[in-house]
Amino acid sequence: MSILRQCRQALKNIVYGDTLLPQEFTIGLSEPQTEIAVWLHGLGAPIDVTFRHTTACCAPLIMGVSLDKEQMRTGRRRGNLSLRYYERGGEKRLLGQIKLAVKAIIPLDDSELVLFNVRGSTNYCLPKLRLWAHYLPQTYSNRKNLPKFDVKMTALELRAAIVTFIRPHPLSLVSIQSEGTENIFPMNLMGDLGKGYFAFGLKDSRLAAHQVERAGRIALSNVPLPLCSIAMKMAINHTKTSVDWEQLPFSLKTSKQFRIPVPASAPRVREMKVDQLYKIGSHTLFVARIISDEKFSDEAHVNMIHGFYQHWRLQGHKEKIRASLAEDSFNKRGLAPS
Ligand SMILES: Cc1cc2nc3c(=O)[nH]c(=O)nc-3n(C[C@H](O)[C@H](O)[C@H](O)COP(=O)(O)O)c2cc1C
Repeated sequence: MSILRQCRQALKNIVYGDTLLPQEFTIGLSEPQTEIAVWLHGLGAPIDVTFRHTTACCAPLIMGVSLDKEQMRTGRRRGNLSLRYYERGGEKRLLGQIKLAVKAIIPLDDSELVLFNVRGSTNYCLPKLRLWAHYLPQTYSNRKNLPKFDVKMTALELRAAIVTFIRPHPLSLVSIQSEGTENIFPMNLMGDLGKGYFAFGLKDSRLAAHQVERAGRIALSNVPLPLCSIAMKMAINHTKTSVDWEQLPFSLKTSKQFRIPVPASAPRVREMKVDQLYKIGSHTLFVARIISDEKFSDEAHVNMIHGFYQHWRLQGHKEKIRASLAEDSFNKRGLAPS
């Protein structure tokens, strides 16, 4: 290695330490995740929304939180509204928060989905200096390359999106089969809304969103760890008009009522009917009703978290970080890191 390269590497080590981890880190967790609790603050007593929220759109960044009917109107506003991400066990430390402002309310039977604009965020997963060492070049690069990006998020939105991935997001494969449209693709921008509802966001600029809109129903399969690298490769299917089920590199079973092909190894399969959809910005928000929910095994399945949270989770333990990087690389590509 040349002296210049060695100096550059030494400087990088000083600035970032071992915090240069993938933004989307894959880990295996069983369901429901028990690591992180998400609370809505600012409406009287804090409300546990861990299994009642989702990212509704990326640009603009909109969060959706489902509340009991009238909870939003009758809740005594105390201070600013925010989503707060806490360690569920241990010392229940606050790991991140996102400041919110109400944008719209969508009625859902006896609950409602409140959409919030994001006004700012704080991330406590890394020390402040390290955090800004990441943010500054990210902000510069984002500003420079924004015109080229398909999803144009501001620096404020990018930082808040990192906080949203403190909450583990299960990776799923979405199957569609309806009137000549057949497809299967990965999705992680989604969340339970409670009371039989579920929400997910799909990029409006990709075919997959329009296929789901036309089909009006999907089968959602959790991804077991051995299927992860294949599920990742199926990202390309967001842009495909159709897939041939016979050509898929895994065996299939059919979902309970809609009889849609899903991976035979899926530990959980839910069927959903689209109830409402909203074209917000970069993404279409789909609000769906859960029609069936089959659990086949309790094995760990793939979840995605942000690298900053992974660093906090492993308490900066060098050996564990190295092992988890190898695991992440294997999950994504079926290969150990080079
Ligand atoms: C693990 C994973 C999860 C994804 N989740 C979503 C999602 O929730 N919503 C979405 O619109 N696209 C999702 N995508 C698709 C990508 O954002 C992207 O659109 C797709 O890979 C096509 O690539 P392209 O945008 O470079 O053409 C996901 C892709 C991967 C690999």
